[in-house]
Amino acid sequence: MYSRIAGTGSYLPEKVVTNADLEKIVDTTDEWIRSRTGIESRHMSAPEETTSSMATIAARRAMEMAGVGPEDIDFIIVGTTTPDVIFPNVATIVQAALGIHDTPALAVETACAGFMSALSIADKYLRLGEAKCALVIGAEALTRIIDWNDRTTCVLFADGAGAVVLQPSEEPGILTTIIAADGQYRDLLSYPYGVSSGFDKLRSGAPAALTMKGSEVFKVAVNKLSKLVDQTLAKAGVDKSEIDWLVPHQANLRIIQAAARKLNMPMEQVVVTVTHHGNTSAASVPLALDTAVRDGRIKRGQLLMLEAFGGGFTWGSALVRF
Ligand code: UT7
Repeated sequence: MYSRIAGTGSYLPEKVVTNADLEKIVDTTDEWIRSRTGIESRHMSAPEETTSSMATIAARRAMEMAGVGPEDIDFIIVGTTTPDVIFPNVATIVQAALGIHDTPALAVETACAGFMSALSIADKYLRLGEAKCALVIGAEALTRIIDWNDRTTCVLFADGAGAVVLQPSEEPGILTTIIAADGQYRDLLSYPYGVSSGFDKLRSGAPAALTMKGSEVFKVAVNKLSKLVDQTLAKAGVDKSEIDWLVPHQANLRIIQAAARKLNMPMEQVVVTVTHHGNTSAASVPLALDTAVRDGRIKRGQLLMLEAFGGGFTWGSALVRF
């Protein structure tokens, strides 16, 4: 028994922030941002939008493609770094917004790898027969935790949501997943204030923002992702030549190109959305997937390599027969 992606959906906020807009806020240039990251523009949520509101729209679109209603969903899991509130967890807020009751509704916080963790967990529930129709979401409102005076981060991160509906299938669907983490790297990429640590600073109104040692993160990301794709192929017993599409985390075009080289894949077989989405953390892989499904590039039966890497560090992959 496999789990299979029955539908995909995504949502991007209406407001677009271009590199030219950022040139007016911080000491940066369109040329620097494009050449170092590949980003040209990104989306920013409106003040009334939340991670759950974006997730709910993406979920509805995935459910519509899958032809399922709220009564069919029996498992909900959301990967996010930016939940609406500390509790109740964001998946329960999405659950209520969709009119779904009495199902598991879990949130996983594995930063940019959040969707990969969520997909891996949901896949196990379906394979074990403990769920029949799962909603798996990655959603982020990252622009809320950015220091808009910090040019090293504010040009990178953005908002959005992506979702898939998983159903059981006797035909191959998700062939394998891998998730892993190494907490020794916590200081390279973090939002250092929370509830049981640094809450006093938050309460006092002291400035708090995401911090990243970009070039150090870059090196570990390329290294870990390179090993991850090899491990994923070996675990599934698949040769890299069989992959039709690489659907990578959209943090930096140069990291994506390194992963493609590792797989001997031309960039024509790589879904690149970082150009217009920026880095949407846990939302990036399902957003890229839905983009390429809806524009007709990704077709039923094709083999996809999904992968992501993020704060923690955390990382994850899935080899998927779509
Ligand atoms: O999604 C989670 C995982 N995150 C990632 O995978 C991100 C990984 N890291 C990266 O993508 C890249 O390291 C960055 C895009 C963040 C930075 O690119 P880089 O080529 O590693 O640049 P750098 O950090 O080494 O900085 C080079 C220079 C520095 O100036 P000096 O010290 O050489 O004078 C920075 O101060 O670029 C400067 N710089 C900027 N200049 C113009 C940093 N940010 C900017 C900016 N505009 N926005």
